Order: sequence, then structure tokens, then C-alpha cells
Amino acid sequence: MEKQAELYAGKAKTAYTTDDPDRLILEFRDDTSAFDGEKVEQLSRKGMVNNRFNAFIMTELQAAGVPTHFEQILSDRESVVKRLDMMPVECVIRNISAGSLCRRLGVAEDETLEPPVFEFFLKNDALHDPMINDSHIITFGWASESEISRMKELTVKVNDVLKPLFEKAGLLLVDYKLEFGRFNGEILLGDEFSPDGCRLWDAATREKFDKDRFRQGLGSVVESYEAVARRLGIAL
Ligand code: TMP
Ligand code: ASP
Repeated sequence: MEKQAELYAGKAKTAYTTDDPDRLILEFRDDTSAFDGEKVEQLSRKGMVNNRFNAFIMTELQAAGVPTHFEQILSDRESVVKRLDMMPVECVIRNISAGSLCRRLGVAEDETLEPPVFEFFLKNDALHDPMINDSHIITFGWASESEISRMKELTVKVNDVLKPLFEKAGLLLVDYKLEFGRFNGEILLGDEFSPDGCRLWDAATREKFDKDRFRQGLGSVVESYEAVARRLGIAL
């Protein structure tokens, strides 16, 4: 597969076109950003760790019946994915209260949320990813009714697969964000699943192993991602 032009550069990944119009190469960079791009740093090895982490999780999800864009790892920092027509919405599931849910609703942190909370956000850094609902998505044409149902269904299915997977490694999947896109009339999971887009706490100590370490300046960011990878048995 031949890497061609840069298609777009996001905050942490760059997508390249290839000689196959249906395939992209995703490059996982070391750039780490938070607060909608306000805080950006280069963290050595992060691109490689997230590329391998994402490949492992996407493969687990695919095996469990969640269709994803992931095809294969190409190099330390690159993977081949299907080229999706992305929907500009972010799907979040929360199993335990944290982050913006606590700020918005004034609820205490570390409350078990049963059933888990599902939220949509608009993917728009300039607007700070505002929370939206099904009605906004329909009216503004970001996705159809059936696409909304499918995104919710798949986001819940991801929880059913990943919550026990992390639990076996002594970690709580507190919350996570997913992005979906269209491919040949089907909805596939796109973007990435890594500690950059979820919260993972040690089940016993509540130590954070995710991007909150970067957001809150706690240090040992990539070391924590690597520790999660080791606990899951991912070869780095
Ligand atoms: P929040 O508490 O900031 O709303 O985030 C909930 C989860 O979703 C958390 O694991 C971080 C993730 N997330 C992103 O990775 N990117 C985003 O743009 C948003 C809104 C959330
Ligand atoms: N909004 C997410 C965060 O706060 C993603 C980002 O801005 O990079 O981390």
C-alpha cells in the first residue's frame, strides 16, 4: 500500500490517503492535547503506545461483533484503516461520575452510574464540544434517526466488551468517547480507542491511568498508558 497525500492533521493523529481510495493510513503522533487544543505537549513514545493500544482494542471489539475501521498495523506509529465518512458527533458512555458530568450537574465524583449515562457532544473545538441531543443531530442533519440508534447500540456494546476486559486487569472503565463514520452504507467505529479518550482508574486505589494525568499535570502520562498496556498483555 502506497502512502500518498496528507488528508488532514488532527490534534494527535494525521490521516494520509493511499493508492486505495477506500483506505487511509493513520499516523499516531506524540502530540498530546487537552482542553480543546489549548494545552499541547509532545510526549515521547505516546504515538507508538496508542497505535498498539488502539490496534489491540479495535481487534477485540471487531471479534466481539463491533464493526470498526481498523485493518492492520503498518509500523510503530501507523495503521491502515477504512476511509469513513465521519459523523461530527462524539458518543460518550459514563459508568462512574467524573469530569464534565460532575461540573455540569454538580454530582459527586466516583458515583456508580446505573444504568450508565449516554451523552452526545458536537465535535467542534472552537465551541468546546458542546453537549447536544438527538433532536439537534436530526435537525442539523449530522446523522439520521437510524444512524443515531446504531451509534447508541454500538457504544453500549463497546461497554459490554471493554468493561470486563479492563476489570480483569484491575481497572475501572470510568467513561470513554467514540466516533463513528459511514462506509458502504454501514456504520463503523472510527477514530481511536486509547487512554487519550477514556478514563481508567485502578479499581483498588483509584489511581488515574488516562489522559487526566496530562490534563491535571500529574506526570508519568505515557508511563501510565504503558502500565495499562502491560496489564492487558499488549506487547509494546
Ligand atoms: P468529559 O468528562 O470531559 O465530558 O469527557 C468524558 C470522556 O470522553 C473522557 O474519557 C474524555 C472523553 N472525551 C474525549 O476524549 N474528547 C472529547 O472531545 C470529549 C468531549 C470527551
Ligand atoms: N476535549 C478533549 C480533552 O479535553 C480532547 C482535546 O481537547 O484534545 O482532552
